[in-house]
Amino acid sequence: GQARLLPGTPTQVLRFDASVVRGDPAAVAPSPGGYLGPTLRLKKGQRVRIRFDNRLTEPSIVHWHGLHLPDEMDGHPRFAVAGGGSYHYEFTVNDRAGTYWYHPHPHGRTGPQIYYGLAGLLLISDDEERTLGLPQDEQDIALVIQDRTFGADNQLRTLGRGMMMERMMGFLGKDILVNGQPGYTLTVSPRAYRLRLLNASNARIYKLAWSDGTPLHVIATDGGLLTRPAERPYAMLAPGERVELWVDFSRYADGGELALKSLPFEGGMAMRGMMGGGMMRGMMGRGGMMDGMMGDTMSRMNEGMMGGPANGRELDLLTVRIARGRPAKSEPPARLARVPPAGSGDARNAGNPRTFRLAMGMMEWTLNGRTFEMNAAAADERVALGATEVWELANEASMGMMGMMAHPMHIHGVQFRVVGREVLPGLREAYATVREGFVDEGWKDTVLVMPGERVRLMLRFEDYKGLFPYHCHNLEHADLGMMRNYRVV
Ligand code: C2O
Ligand code: CU
Ligand code: CU
Repeated sequence: GQARLLPGTPTQVLRFDASVVRGDPAAVAPSPGGYLGPTLRLKKGQRVRIRFDNRLTEPSIVHWHGLHLPDEMDGHPRFAVAGGGSYHYEFTVNDRAGTYWYHPHPHGRTGPQIYYGLAGLLLISDDEERTLGLPQDEQDIALVIQDRTFGADNQLRTLGRGMMMERMMGFLGKDILVNGQPGYTLTVSPRAYRLRLLNASNARIYKLAWSDGTPLHVIATDGGLLTRPAERPYAMLAPGERVELWVDFSRYADGGELALKSLPFEGGMAMRGMMGGGMMRGMMGRGGMMDGMMGDTMSRMNEGMMGGPANGRELDLLTVRIARGRPAKSEPPARLARVPPAGSGDARNAGNPRTFRLAMGMMEWTLNGRTFEMNAAAADERVALGATEVWELANEASMGMMGMMAHPMHIHGVQFRVVGREVLPGLREAYATVREGFVDEGWKDTVLVMPGERVRLMLRFEDYKGLFPYHCHNLEHADLGMMRNYRVV
């Protein structure tokens, strides 16, 4: 039946003709590996021009995830061009130094297009970053984490168009790929590194930790560097999110191996009790007997139908092999970049946040009861240019067997701050397995909202009027319509 796109190098299907109008011409670096697109290296203040040629046989458009751009440069689905068409981008890089990325954004096909290989890194540098003495060149490494499933023919398994379960929950693959490769090994020398991690998976959430128990030193989130490294036992990384780690391998002067793992956690999916009506802490094979039974059933259905382990299962992501050598020991940098404090005091609606309820409708996920409309924003989705606002994402509603899921919510056009998190009492125990892994000290464009959680954000709408999407970055959820627009007027 349906024609299938074979995995290939994205240069065959998504061709970039990127030129830097002003500044450094060496902006297009090779792909970090595998099928991923070329890495775009840009500098804050640069003016860039990029031509996108759509060589697919279906509509597509490229979105620059995390960048603050005019709406016609943002890759909104309404700008999707048919196969054979092109789109011309020209914009100034406004954003802070950091790890951003680009990917297609045609409505309904974003999940499959990213799954089949269309995504790449966009690394921005700025003057402030250059003064910090962070590890650079060979010690500055980007790692793109994705899960995929390969069929007997060793081709990517077709995404289940007809499989309602997979579309409702999101694709979870059997194999972990890093920079497009399974069983990834990173060879390093015994010294300090900057590791930039991007979760470019469709629906898989990682709970990152070192196998030797060393805490993580997080130096940056989605929108760039923090004021100082944040120490965490583990860090949550949901689809669309980035985190940068500072790590010193000098303790392995005699060589050795270390794994970056995803630790087990609960709450990838939680169920409201179907019997008795009370909130059950039910989750994937854990918890009380009722929960356990339901959890196991769901888990088996999930793993059987979708091929991959459930969200929250323990996984090895990559191996770090430390080469023998003279150790160059260093301490994590004491200070990083300037980041203003995240208070919500000056927001127009600080006491009365604009609330968005994440829920399930008729076999679709909704935002305030609505699904995506290509060209529309409702009256309560209109914001004033120049306004600072508090938004609240409330993941508290559920329905039947599907229950509640974690939703990584992404807002186009802005970087925001997370100013508060609260969870329903009935889900606190599951939440405790992820709570210490949020890094809310810096700028974010995607935030993981766990079952039963309310997350408050502070956003400022500057520079550009227009229509911008906000959506769940579980790509199957977004493709099913868990996306809306807001309009800056
Ligand atoms: Cu990374 Cu609207 O997406
Ligand atoms: Cu985006
Ligand atoms: Cu979602």
